[in-house]
Amino acid sequence: MRTQVVIIGGGPSGLLLSQLLHRKGIDTVVLERKTRDYVLGRIRAGVLETGFVNLMREAGVAERMDAESIVHDGTVIAYGEDQFRIDFQQSTGESVVVYGQTELTRDLYDAREAADGKIVFNVENVTIHDAESETPHVTYQCDGQEHRLDCDFVAGCDGFHGVSRQTIPLSVRREYEKLYPFGWLGLLSDTPPVHPELIYSNSERGFALCSQRSWTRSRYYIQCSLSDSPDDWTDQMFWDELRRRLPQKAADELVTGPSIEKSIAPLRSFVTEPMRWGRLFLCGDAAHIVPPTGAKGLNTAASDIHYLYHGLLQFYQEKDSEGIGRYSERALARIWKAERFSWTTTMLLHRFPEMNQFDLRMQQADIDFLRENKDAQKVFATNYVGLPF
Ligand code: FAD
Ligand code: DHB
Repeated sequence: MRTQVVIIGGGPSGLLLSQLLHRKGIDTVVLERKTRDYVLGRIRAGVLETGFVNLMREAGVAERMDAESIVHDGTVIAYGEDQFRIDFQQSTGESVVVYGQTELTRDLYDAREAADGKIVFNVENVTIHDAESETPHVTYQCDGQEHRLDCDFVAGCDGFHGVSRQTIPLSVRREYEKLYPFGWLGLLSDTPPVHPELIYSNSERGFALCSQRSWTRSRYYIQCSLSDSPDDWTDQMFWDELRRRLPQKAADELVTGPSIEKSIAPLRSFVTEPMRWGRLFLCGDAAHIVPPTGAKGLNTAASDIHYLYHGLLQFYQEKDSEGIGRYSERALARIWKAERFSWTTTMLLHRFPEMNQFDLRMQQADIDFLRENKDAQKVFATNYVGLPF
């Protein structure tokens, strides 16, 4: 079988690219290792930059998002009992929206299915061949049979553990990584959010984040040990610990309830270069990971898709390879800045095991500066709402 673009991975990156290309008459096949229900069961990001929202609109899948998402014009930073607000609108004229990754992935699946888009689930042993030639192909197994897809391009949207990045030879690939000595334990519950905006809290017991998915669904996170398992934490233990890490006023207002989901994510910064090898392009988590502080994971995936989509349009519509030729350079220029923001925000808000009294004072001075200085707030807000594509 033949298609124009084989997309490996049916997460948000792969589905968004597939839907955008479909609207321009470019044919794709998406290969997904898991089932649709499995992908939709993963609770991940919740805060979207305007750039992401605009891409969803361009893909024709923003109707529910526009109706149900919640616009946030600012966020709260807490340090012990002190707290202050960073006003995104005042600093940048822009906002972010709260809309869960699960919901936007569902919208994308629905749109692909309504358009008879080809998505193959439960694929195994996906292998990319001849990526350096002008006639690459991809083989995979499904239902016990071997399949082959010939194509013009391969988009590697298969997340951090996928095959696409590994296909690029080690002689070409450079990887940059930082591991953090803690994780985030997340809990989702059908309870009203503790506050209309997010609260990022640096407490002496560690970091906590109060986020949300809707007016009736909350997402909370607490910094935890890498050796913890979600089973070590009963709901009651989680709520008690979260309360201890919030300013008293927020702790008093917290509404608790049974968890719908609890999971632990380790924190990692990771970038691979280059993001293109011949006719293979890496997008999203396949190429880079940020620690979640600052909500950049999914948003960096969107900027990759923007650059690749426009590069492929230029190729198919104008017979011009400039966009695909410069894909890696353009994507990485933005990625590294998002990596920097996620890293500095992680350093600002977490308690690291090796911190001494001097380190703590430096952290407090950083937070004080952010509270008092409008220019520092503008820098934070500019990064948080998202750098331009
Ligand atoms: P993924 O969502 O990982 O999708 C990749 C897809 O490829 C998956 O469906 C996978 O099954 C499939 N796949 C993998 N290997 C193969 C293969 N060999 N063949 C075929 N298919 C394959 N970001 C935030 O902004 N905020 C958060 O709170 C947050 N929490 C997170 C929690 C966790 C546990 C993780 C892992 C990530 C989190 N992120 C968060 C990051 C954000 O969710 C990701 O950046 C986003 O999912 C990236 O989308 P993607 O489509 O590039 O990759
Ligand atoms: C969420 C996750 C984040 O990492 C973040 O900075 C903000 C919100 C969330 O899952 O809602």
